[in-house]
Amino acid sequence: MAPTRTGQSSTAQLSVARWVAQRLGGLTCRCLLRNKFFLLALAVFGMTLVLLRSSIVDVADEAGDGFPVWRERGMDARVTPISQDIHGVRNESKIKIVITSAPVNDSQSKPTQRPTKPQPKSAPSPPKKAAVYDRRKPNFTEEINYFANIYNNSLPDGDKFFEYAARVIKRAWKPNPKNTETFRKDIRAALGEVGRSQNVYLTKDNTPEGSTMIYYMAGKPSKIANHIWSMLPDNSVFQPNRFKVCSVIGSSGILKGSRCGAEIDKSDFVFRFNLAPVRGFEVDVGRKTNFTTLNPTFIMKKVNSIKTKEDEAKMIDELRQFQESYMYLPGFAVSGSLRLLVKIAGVAMRANVTKPVYGSPDHFLVVANLWRKTLDTELKWPSTGLYAVSSLFDACDRIHVYGFWPFPKSVGGKAVPYHYNNNVKPTKVHNFDKEFKTLLMLHEKGIINLHLQSCK
Ligand SMILES: *[C@@H]1O[C@H](CO)[C@@H](O)[C@H](O)[C@H]1NC(C)=O
Ligand SMILES: *[C@@H]1O[C@H](CO)[C@@H](O)[C@H](O)[C@H]1NC(C)=O
Ligand SMILES: *[C@@H]1O[C@H](CO)[C@@H](O)[C@H](O)[C@H]1NC(C)=O
Ligand SMILES: *[C@@H]1O[C@H](CO)[C@@H](O)[C@H](O)[C@H]1NC(C)=O
Ligand SMILES: *[C@@H]1O[C@H](CO)[C@@H](O)[C@H](O)[C@H]1NC(C)=O
Ligand SMILES: *[C@@H]1O[C@H](CO)[C@@H](O)[C@H](O)[C@H]1NC(C)=O
Repeated sequence: MAPTRTGQSSTAQLSVARWVAQRLGGLTCRCLLRNKFFLLALAVFGMTLVLLRSSIVDVADEAGDGFPVWRERGMDARVTPISQDIHGVRNESKIKIVITSAPVNDSQSKPTQRPTKPQPKSAPSPPKKAAVYDRRKPNFTEEINYFANIYNNSLPDGDKFFEYAARVIKRAWKPNPKNTETFRKDIRAALGEVGRSQNVYLTKDNTPEGSTMIYYMAGKPSKIANHIWSMLPDNSVFQPNRFKVCSVIGSSGILKGSRCGAEIDKSDFVFRFNLAPVRGFEVDVGRKTNFTTLNPTFIMKKVNSIKTKEDEAKMIDELRQFQESYMYLPGFAVSGSLRLLVKIAGVAMRANVTKPVYGSPDHFLVVANLWRKTLDTELKWPSTGLYAVSSLFDACDRIHVYGFWPFPKSVGGKAVPYHYNNNVKPTKVHNFDKEFKTLLMLHEKGIINLHLQSCK
């Protein structure tokens, strides 16, 4: 909540209160105004009004399932994750903003509760009316359609896919400069100016002061707050042809025991997701880290939304593994999560660990639209993994991809843990299959190097 706003509303409320008090005083007893208790009651009443008027009413995990309900003035949205994590990457394609109730009613003293009426066991009830928010209708340009027609080739399903993947893995990977240049040209054309790598996150260069930000999932468009704008970096680390070799590191258990750390550390720029740990896993995942994404769910679950000093210390300790990395905050996905992400940015800046940056919603949206069309996934969001891989072509001559394998078994039939760093059980991964097939196709064409085996 912006301090100026609160200030204005409390002044307004105070004069309203005074006016009411004067009327009341006129009708009953003028000395009421001098009564301390009456003034106290008025102040409480005024504060309640101020709280109700603030734009974000609450961010709370009401269902206790680790996923918060973001309440805003005029909106009561529940973010429904169906699967939280794909290789440390939020399964964004399945995150829906479900509008669960009418706009917040100012005259009510409490925000409306989500309905908790139990559903009758028999006879499945018809699906509840739920609006899936889409900020802007996908705009499929001619260039996006062209790209989709060329790069949409679908690989076989099921066992056939595994046989295919086994053959691909056996072959030594060779870069194909011609295919890479064609792909670079096609993806640049499809993503347009907005979709250039320089625009992955907000900078003073690409976001003029006072720009209107359009949240790509949910939230009213609003001007970028000055305290956020003033901390934006001047320009982006992703400049054309800046890096020879970039590595994008997913969190699949396929990295466990891979001993790929030394190879990964040879890259010029290492991209990681959702603060996936490095400490203790260096042999397999490397120690170099230049960029990590973060999602608000992680903060809520792992460090209790940084409510206490202890939470803050724990957060800072987590961040220390990422040293001078950029930390990507998806501040303009859902407006309700901005406040928490700004808090994290503050913690990181004060502790001088990581360089917090805010993801550009426009950039994310144009990349999302490209994959919605190419993968034929309608309004679903691509994973952050695919987002990263396809966002770096301006900046990186070569892209290596490690730690992406969405299946519970390897091609050799061995069990593959879901994550390299914990024992979280895998969830169903259908859409991720589509994304993975695209990565494998790009690997086959010599455009990216997808590492699926242990390193020497
Ligand atoms: C708001 O809440 C009040 C009190 O609960 C009720 O009387 C009023 O009809 C509600 N207004 C709307 C628009 O729902
Ligand atoms: C869609 O994209 C085209 C080409 O980039 C642009 O001219 C047009 O204004 C866009 N339409 C919308 C609704 O954004
Ligand atoms: C994908 O390619 C097939 C042909 O292989 C074509 O029929 C289909 O329309 C394409 N899909 C998209 C979304 O472009
Ligand atoms: C990447 O991170 C490493 C430390 O992990 C650092 O030494 C290196 O300079 C960084 N590279 C860039 C391009 O920032
Ligand atoms: C912040 O950290 C960087 C390197 O990690 C260091 O060069 C710089 O002096 C630190 N700044 C402060 C104010 O401690
Ligand atoms: C996300 O999770 C759901 C449910 O587990 C799954 O059906 C879907 O395929 C997943 N999406 C991606 C992109 O993995």
